[in-house]
Amino acid sequence: MTMETTLIILKPDAVQRGLVGRIISRLEEAGLRMVGARFLQLSSQLAERLYEPHRGKPFYEGLLRFMTSSPVMVLAVRGLGAITICRKLIGETFGSQADPGTIRGDFGLSNSFNLVHGSDGPDSAQRELAIFFPPGDLVDYERAIESWVYDLSSGQPE
Ligand code: RTP
Ligand code: MG
Repeated sequence: MTMETTLIILKPDAVQRGLVGRIISRLEEAGLRMVGARFLQLSSQLAERLYEPHRGKPFYEGLLRFMTSSPVMVLAVRGLGAITICRKLIGETFGSQADPGTIRGDFGLSNSFNLVHGSDGPDSAQRELAIFFPPGDLVDYERAIESWVYDLSSGQPE
């Protein structure tokens, strides 16, 4: 596994329902580390850039309306294999199908109000991070707990 950074968005329903802290805790408790954060209401332009790959799909217009309807919390999250790990923590796309134990499965029921966005691969992560965080904006730092989150005895985090 390689060290990766992924884009996580706590969507308008997460903010409105007061779930921001609990969802961030899920990521922190897994051992992931935040390296960037922004709280903002998405403009149509930003939402269109983010969801460009979905342009033209039947759910696209509704998705844009939802994502611009209220503020969101945008995070850059880092860890070994962070992209896949975050997708697993988030769960299946539709809240009604997401497993218990996942963020979507534990906190929601709706298919479209599904609380969290997470990049779906390295190319998406790179593209999406660049929308919210200009080069040099992410904050890299050592955590004192790092050697307990990862086994560093081989010199490499495992
Ligand atoms: P996200 O991008 O938000 O992390 O979600 P995802 O990868 O699990 O799902 P994706 O296929 O990328 O879809 C983006 C968002 O569009 C809505 N959606 N609705 N009605 C539908 O068939 C449908 N499909 C997708 C969901 O809100 C999904 O999160
Ligand atoms: Mg997606």
